[in-house]
Amino acid sequence: MKKLFIKTYGCQMNVYDSARMADLLAPLGYTPAASPDEADMVILNTCHIREKAAEKIYSELGRLKRLKDARKLRGGTMTIAVAGCVAQAEGAEIIARQSAVDIVVGPQSYHHLPEMLARLARNGGHALQTDFPAEAKFDSLPEQNKSAGPAAFLTVQEGCDKFCTFCVVPYTRGSEYSRPAVDILAEAQTLVANGAREISLLGQNVNAYRGAGSDGEYWTLARLIGALAHLEGLKRLRYMTNHPRDMGDDLIAAHRDVDALMPYLHLPIQSGSDRILTAMNRQHTADDYLRLVERVREARPDIALSSDFIVGFPGETEKDFDATMSLVRKVGYAQAFSFKYSARPGTPAAVASGQIPDDVKDTRLQALQALLAAQQAEFNTSCEGRVLSVLFEKPGRKDGQGVGRTPYLQPVHVDGAHAMIGQIADVRIEAVLSNSLKGSLVSRPVRHKVSVQ
Ligand code: SAH
Ligand code: SF4
Ligand code: F3S
Repeated sequence: MKKLFIKTYGCQMNVYDSARMADLLAPLGYTPAASPDEADMVILNTCHIREKAAEKIYSELGRLKRLKDARKLRGGTMTIAVAGCVAQAEGAEIIARQSAVDIVVGPQSYHHLPEMLARLARNGGHALQTDFPAEAKFDSLPEQNKSAGPAAFLTVQEGCDKFCTFCVVPYTRGSEYSRPAVDILAEAQTLVANGAREISLLGQNVNAYRGAGSDGEYWTLARLIGALAHLEGLKRLRYMTNHPRDMGDDLIAAHRDVDALMPYLHLPIQSGSDRILTAMNRQHTADDYLRLVERVREARPDIALSSDFIVGFPGETEKDFDATMSLVRKVGYAQAFSFKYSARPGTPAAVASGQIPDDVKDTRLQALQALLAAQQAEFNTSCEGRVLSVLFEKPGRKDGQGVGRTPYLQPVHVDGAHAMIGQIADVRIEAVLSNSLKGSLVSRPVRHKVSVQ
């Protein structure tokens, strides 16, 4: 028996990939380790999106090197692998900076891990694989072989052809690729058989999904959602993340027509200024976005909206920033992520003129985050006293507690719900805590139609 520890950074697609790497290594005798100290193999599944995320990897590798050296002194070994987007972006450079690294493997080539390990065992040295495309990976991954929990992730689309001028994803994940619908339906069926009640469909541009269907046509995401909604036992569907340009009419209609599709939409806009949106190559205006939000809300009035924002993009003036604040006020978000612009090597914006000083970025980020936090608190408070359906995902910190999520993706703690993991139940929302809600059970598990009210 060998022990495997995977540390995951970045987006949910990395979370999915980490689970698949564990599946791939299980037949070689690897079982999960609780910490790197007891692991025979450690994989860092990395993120390259901002400078800080990438730099963290090297300090973590320094710690792992010390563990590996200590293990060697005791006559043992430890294999260190760097996977994910830093692996793709920096390749051999990683081994040059930290020679304790044995394996570097990109996000579209990790299905080669077993043969890379075999090669290392035979020849020693280092192994590196950073090939595209995504297609080959999905074709050679094994079935998901364990329970992914009540709320599972399923990658349906990979890569990005949009080339926003700030972003590394098109370079680290490659071009857009959609998995065939039959493969996705089969994987979803396995997930449900293993206990999943909710599936989040993942992709860097998931609403750009165009996958081969069983009828010879190319299916949109809406069509895929329609088919998945018929799976017996699957109660909830979500999808992320989206580009406003790819939000099709049929997907908007699905929010009205498909009960299992949860009323939550992550629709990143990045900036409220048309000038900055153009410089970012987002290919839509703030007005286009506002009209889109209106249409989504017509289809599903209670939908919770979320977004990503970047402040301090090169050339951003106070006026541009005010436009972002004004857009946020107009939309009213249930939650959102916001970041200081981080110059990424190889992207056009990194060499653009008008780079913004860090203290200006800080001030703008604080103002934006205060506004977003107030909107989130307002949304959460509006749920107080309501009865919402909650899918319980895991035990809470307190004895007997269960933690789950509402249709709007808010985490809820419920005392006495520890036996409800994997089930959906009606919960009365009693209080808004700093990062979650507190509620109490009002009914037995809902076994039939799931109401979100
Ligand atoms: N495909 C998604 C985004 C994936 S990256 C989309 O199109 O919206 C997740 C988020 O990271 C982005 O939405 C953006 O807000 C942020 N991000 C990406 N590159 C960044 C950079 N160079 N600096 C700061 N934030 C960045
Ligand atoms: Fe990055 Fe833009 Fe692609 Fe999103 S759409 S992954 S922000 S390039
Ligand atoms: Fe990061 Fe790669 Fe995801 S850069 S955000 S892990 S696609």
